[in-house]
Amino acid sequence: MTNLKPIVEPIVEIGRLTAELVALAQISEAEPPIVTRIVFSEADLRARAYVKNLALAAGLAIREDAVGNTFLRWAGAEPDLPAVATGSHIDAIPNAGAYDGTVGVLGGLEAIRSLQAAGFRPRRSIELVLFTSEEPTRFGIGCLGSRLMSAVMTPDHATTLRDKEGRSLDELRAEAGFIGDLSSVTMPAGYYHAFVELHIEQGPLLEREGLELGIVTHIAAPASLRILIEGEGGHAGAMLMPDRHDALAAASELILALEAAAKSTGVIDTVATVGVCEVFPGAVNSVPSRVRLETDIRDTDSARRDGVLAKLRSVAKEVAERRGVRISLETVNADPPATSDPAILNALEASIADAGKTSRKMVSRAYHDSLFVARFAPAAMLFIPCRGGVSHRPDEYASPEWITTGVEVLARTLAQLAQ
Ligand code: GLV
Ligand code: MN
Ligand code: MN
Repeated sequence: MTNLKPIVEPIVEIGRLTAELVALAQISEAEPPIVTRIVFSEADLRARAYVKNLALAAGLAIREDAVGNTFLRWAGAEPDLPAVATGSHIDAIPNAGAYDGTVGVLGGLEAIRSLQAAGFRPRRSIELVLFTSEEPTRFGIGCLGSRLMSAVMTPDHATTLRDKEGRSLDELRAEAGFIGDLSSVTMPAGYYHAFVELHIEQGPLLEREGLELGIVTHIAAPASLRILIEGEGGHAGAMLMPDRHDALAAASELILALEAAAKSTGVIDTVATVGVCEVFPGAVNSVPSRVRLETDIRDTDSARRDGVLAKLRSVAKEVAERRGVRISLETVNADPPATSDPAILNALEASIADAGKTSRKMVSRAYHDSLFVARFAPAAMLFIPCRGGVSHRPDEYASPEWITTGVEVLARTLAQLAQ
């Protein structure tokens, strides 16, 4: 904690930022207020153009990499020093709201503009990053851009990615204007001096406790599995019960077993969800022959999470034998948790004290691009409350006051780290 005079008093223009958040939310594949912005869709490309124009107006230089990660740079007095970065994503899952990711992108831009307005001149460059496809909707895996930046995903693996229509990442990124070798996306260690992501909490704690900010010390470890269950279909009237190998009945056992395994850790940090269940042939009078599940399992402790995965695998083996069905499990990702950088946490705490705001330390149960940036740069996150803890829904909401506080503290932190 510092007793020194703050190095800058940022001038945040919340009216401008609120109008920009509203305008960005209008760029949607669904009828507003529903925000749906799948990566490389026409809406995503229009939203990117909107943000880039705002960045140009603020005098930032634009660079885009081969997968569409976008870097908007305010040059510092010593531009060859590793830069200080902030940023998040603007893609949105189907039926989403206006604040997830966008607060970190447009709020990051406003933080830069608030420092410019205050006459601050950074020594290190300050870079706003817009990450490609933080959401897993199109390619089935989250944080695509930052995964490639951190080399957690290899270019060879990325080349195998396809969307539901069978279109490849390579084809779609080229169509969106992002060309070049995916290996060039990898960021060298030392490229960033520090990275701080501003985001809505997506949980209820800050609002419930009447606190203005969350200092994220850890990000939970996410894992995702695709499960294919193959049984035997047939006529729903004529196929006798003792003869059945119903894929959906088997899937139901797995879903409940996964829920029980997550609960059995006795720890609130373990969560597991089956968010996709596709039934074939999907007719009321036909016994399901095939089911495809997608599961999401997370924990702050990766060993505990892996324990849940192991239980699921053993139940799958037992159910397959007992019911005479085939069950295959494919790991989509099983990422380790991230720990925030202590020096950035100190900078955040000092900025919060300078701004006279209230805060608590917390873990992020949602994943973010910071999970992967932390692999190649010192990183941390700053949370603001969101109403009722609601996120990934059209009624997601963060008040202008909450956003102003987040942007002001982000700006102070960027200034400290860049001076
Ligand atoms: C990110 O959107 C997540 O699912 O945590
Ligand atoms: Mn999200
Ligand atoms: Mn997000």
